[in-house]
Amino acid sequence: MSIMKKTILLTAAFGIAASVAFAGGHSASPESKAIKARQAQMTLYSFNLGILGAMAKGDREFDAEAANLAAGNLAAISAVWMPETWIPGSDNQSAKGTDALPALWTDDPAKVGAKSQALVEASAALAKVSGTLDGLRGAIGPVGKSCGSCHEAYRAKSE
Ligand code: HEC
Repeated sequence: MSIMKKTILLTAAFGIAASVAFAGGHSASPESKAIKARQAQMTLYSFNLGILGAMAKGDREFDAEAANLAAGNLAAISAVWMPETWIPGSDNQSAKGTDALPALWTDDPAKVGAKSQALVEASAALAKVSGTLDGLRGAIGPVGKSCGSCHEAYRAKSE
């Protein structure tokens, strides 16, 4: 085997070992755990809002029970406050696998808090009226806006 070939094979093997080690270490870091946990919370928002959005648009038949469940879930999940999922050093300039912008940590905490609170309030209001299609249609807008307003400020746009 030529020296060149050996070098290439060794480099490839090292690359695989390094990426395995990186994946292991990465998933174990507090930042990585925090990022995964908060993204899971976001995924649950999206799942529940998706059910409601489909009904509001008429893509899915309105079902009061399912709508109340999804709206109640949104209200409950938004009220879950896990500050450790937003630990410093887990922004997209400092850590991998996240779209959270550094501004989330450098802005006035009251401003960030207001964006979370907007979702808590909008989803609680939605949960009170989601038993009818008109109620759902009337109250889903502010929920979507609260998601969008926070993403606009603190989430990097993924290409
Ligand atoms: C207080 C701010 C805030 C609010 C409110 C908010 N988000 Fe997010 N969202 C973020 C940030 C920041 C990220 C990037 C998180 C990361 O990648 O670490 C994100 C990421 C996401 C993601 C991508 C998750 C992933 O796996 O990468 C989805 C989906 C999402 N949000 C949906 C929603 C929905 C739906 C709502 C409203 C019901 C919502 N978000 C409300 C800040 C917010």
